[in-house]
Amino acid sequence: MLAFHDIKILHLLHRIPFRAYNLLDMPIFDNQSMEFISRHADQTRRLGVRLGLMLQVGDLIGLEGELGSGKTTLVQGIVSGWGSPDLVTSPSFVLVNVYQHPQGQRLYHVDAYRLANAAEAEDLDIFGMLESSVVVIEWADRIRTILPKENFWINMHWVAEDQRDMLFHASGERYLLLLNELRHQIYGVS
Ligand SMILES: Nc1ncnc2c1ncn2[C@@H]1O[C@H](COP(=O)(O)OP(=O)(O)O)[C@@H](O)[C@H]1O
Ligand SMILES: [Mg+2]
Repeated sequence: MLAFHDIKILHLLHRIPFRAYNLLDMPIFDNQSMEFISRHADQTRRLGVRLGLMLQVGDLIGLEGELGSGKTTLVQGIVSGWGSPDLVTSPSFVLVNVYQHPQGQRLYHVDAYRLANAAEAEDLDIFGMLESSVVVIEWADRIRTILPKENFWINMHWVAEDQRDMLFHASGERYLLLLNELRHQIYGVS
């Protein structure tokens, strides 16, 4: 069935093969996802700054992507946008870095790469962190089973020397709002 907003293309329908009619009935984008190709590390940081500006206590950002796909680079932007002057480094060896906001809040930057199993991940007490802070997790896919189902997920991929593909996915109302706002910041549309 064609939706009302498709009425204006009805007079063009004769151009489309009948077998393709059902494709007209599906949205081109689903509203829970967005893709962005970053062409420079600084562009990834600038996007991170916009996202960081919107974050509040209880927000969970999960980052998935191979080594060098830009996860830590994105977190550098997120942390400065959130408002911390702290330098962001990879928490690979310490598992968790904590960044401080001048007004006292904290942002936990977790690296799940070295966690051996779900039990070790449980010990980190991510739910506890979320009660008072923002949490950003690199290699989040490794501990997906112990994370809240509602989250903002970013899948990153190496495309070329300076290019990275970023796939955003929002689960839950709060994160749909975040995604919509980010889409607005990047493309000027909602
Ligand atoms: N468009 C881009 N976005 C993010 N990083 C990029 C980009 N282009 C090049 N880079 C470089 O790729 C590397 C990404 O490393 P990093 O952020 O530590 O990745 P990860 O944390 O996923 O291992 C950095 O050296 C960064 O400067
Ligand atoms: Mg990293």
